[in-house]
Amino acid sequence: MTARDDSEDLPHGLQLTSLDESFRADPYPILKKLREQAPAYLDPEPRRVFVTRHNDVKTLLHDKKIYMDPRKANPGTFSREVIAGSAGFADPPDMLFLDDPDHQRLRSLVSGSFRPKRAESWRPSIRDVANSVLDGIQESEFELISRFAGPVPVVVIARMLGIDEQHYQQFKAWSDLVVLTGFNPSPTVEQTQRAHEARSALNDFFLRQIEYRTSNPGDDLISDMIRSEQEGETLTDTEIVNQCRLLLVAGNVTTTDLIGNTVKALLDHPEQMRKLREDPSLIVNTIEEVLRFDSPVTNTSRITDREMTVSSCPVQKGESLHLSLAAANRDPEAYANPDTFDIERADVQHLAFGGGRHLCLGAHLARIEAQEAIGALLERYPSLSYGDKGFFHHSIPAFRGMKEFWVKTQG
Ligand code: HEM
Repeated sequence: MTARDDSEDLPHGLQLTSLDESFRADPYPILKKLREQAPAYLDPEPRRVFVTRHNDVKTLLHDKKIYMDPRKANPGTFSREVIAGSAGFADPPDMLFLDDPDHQRLRSLVSGSFRPKRAESWRPSIRDVANSVLDGIQESEFELISRFAGPVPVVVIARMLGIDEQHYQQFKAWSDLVVLTGFNPSPTVEQTQRAHEARSALNDFFLRQIEYRTSNPGDDLISDMIRSEQEGETLTDTEIVNQCRLLLVAGNVTTTDLIGNTVKALLDHPEQMRKLREDPSLIVNTIEEVLRFDSPVTNTSRITDREMTVSSCPVQKGESLHLSLAAANRDPEAYANPDTFDIERADVQHLAFGGGRHLCLGAHLARIEAQEAIGALLERYPSLSYGDKGFFHHSIPAFRGMKEFWVKTQG
């Protein structure tokens, strides 16, 4: 036995994923119960220690010795069976699932393009993308995710990678399929097969891009990575392909969900919407508050490199830690009135981008994309409101956002 096993009276397994209807609709009461009753909870099948307190999550994220590579986890654990066993998992893995020194080597090769100043230089072009996507919408009621929140991030990352516009839709379709199985404890046979196909299609696609960019270098991320390879860095074609696939997949559903969750939070809280419309400079804090209040990535993972104690619970070496970013971001020990959505909140520093060595590389870019997308949307539609067909959440484990979200351009 490691951490406290309360599985008889607390939800477990699939009940703690968005595959479960009530968790999907509103995970926060369940996460609150776990945080209060079993902050380091042994979820038995597949085995993982579900960590919900802000202080524990933050400490573990910043632990320099702890592992990320799921292949290092004990057999039977969530990290080993679900993450390392998923159809989207590459072996050797991309940087997200590697430990140093490989992690550091791969991250440093692309990190320059994601630094705050560099990301900021993309702002005008991101606003243009948002406006031109909106130009394509003529209806007075439309589905926000497929028509707006989905297209904006895929166009941005494809442009960064230097991919031709004609491939955008195919690109998005592959990326969505890969994400479906990554953290899913019970994917269907069809989902697994389609994720495999999508992963190999993406690999072939990126290999062709590398081939082309090798003789036609440009001012894009793929060309940058090839140049590093040519300048003697130990970066193989497979590693470049993995990096490209990670950037595409990591930046897509996440940012789409952030844009969708922001619109929903603002429509649910009209007084906050009014404040933002009166003072558009509040957009920066608004996006931070949405990242805290309705985190698009609900969890990340780590593997214990040693025996340790989490919230008074002993955890063995090689166990899978499920760090609930969504629960930590609503911890009353860290935030006053955590369930209140307040775009002027001062204590808004959240854990939505993870932390430590694996802190989201695209955090600055994602923030700018969301700020510009929401800014453009609110400017275009001064009376945006819920559409008649409503909304429903998607069921992709580890991600929180909407599958469909109908809005009206006139109140
Ligand atoms: C709202 C949008 C986003 C959210 C909430 C988000 C969240 C996260 C989280 C939680 C992690 C894991 C961190 C950890 O375990 O400590 C991560 C890693 C990562 N994200 Fe994001 N992400 C977003 C957008 C993006 C974008 C736009 C990109 C790039 C185009 C990106 C690229 C990455 C990469 C490359 C990693 C792996 C970093 C590493 O292992 O060193 N993400 N992200």
